[in-house]
Amino acid sequence: MRNKVEEAAKAIENRLMAMRPAVGLILGSGLGGIVESIKNPVVIGFDSIPHFPVSTVKGHAGRMIFGKMEEVPVAAMQGRIHYYEGYDLKQVVFPVYVLKRLGIKKLIVTNAAGGINNEFEPGDLMLINDHINLLGDNPLIGQEEMGPRFIDMSRAYSPELIEIAKRKGNMLGIKLREGVYACMTGPSYETPAEIRMLKAIGADAVGMSTVPEVIAARQCEIKVLAVSCITNMAAGISPHVLSHEEVLEGARKSEKNLERLLKEVVKEMI
Ligand code: HPA
Repeated sequence: MRNKVEEAAKAIENRLMAMRPAVGLILGSGLGGIVESIKNPVVIGFDSIPHFPVSTVKGHAGRMIFGKMEEVPVAAMQGRIHYYEGYDLKQVVFPVYVLKRLGIKKLIVTNAAGGINNEFEPGDLMLINDHINLLGDNPLIGQEEMGPRFIDMSRAYSPELIEIAKRKGNMLGIKLREGVYACMTGPSYETPAEIRMLKAIGADAVGMSTVPEVIAARQCEIKVLAVSCITNMAAGISPHVLSHEEVLEGARKSEKNLERLLKEVVKEMI
């Protein structure tokens, strides 16, 4: 794995000249438009980076964008890889190790998620403060090359970065929720019974991503901030059937606020 990470990072460095990112951004379904706020972007397609998995999902562009967001050098992944695409978790998290090798110290992960907490509404942003991994798999299985095996997950979502995000949310008048994200494999949406189970075990939102990347980031000591866009209420809570189109439409609605928030937060991450 280390050699592959090295080769991918070298190929990227050749295109970047002297610039090195300080903050990584992984953009979820329908949230890729946030890269518009990156100045002087250098765009590199996943397919031109050695060993990079290629995203196959609508709403996920599949490229890395390097440049400055509010004067902070960032590396944004516009489009991510999901377990449900058939990749194994080592491939899903490969870009995280490449970002680490390129020098990032902090990572912002975003996703589209279904709301489980009754107080939530579509359009809300939720700061993730903990997760429940229901993938039945873990990206660190069989891999001790990129960091230790038995890593602490009790403060996986940086309390310090959550505080910054809350302060900025207040300043901007953006209502922020906070809660637990449950990660399912997908790609089918959950059944109403599964959503009742998730609620009973303490989940506030549900999605199909983020958790593998956060585990990998923590293995290599990257600080993480993660934000869910509640694009829909989860199955059985939502009055209608779920569709990927609804999720993309919901993401479009919260994207502006997410972008305003991230532009402020990123300034304090350097
Ligand atoms: N379930 C799972 N993943 C999702 C959902 C959902 O309701 N909405 C957006 N991503």
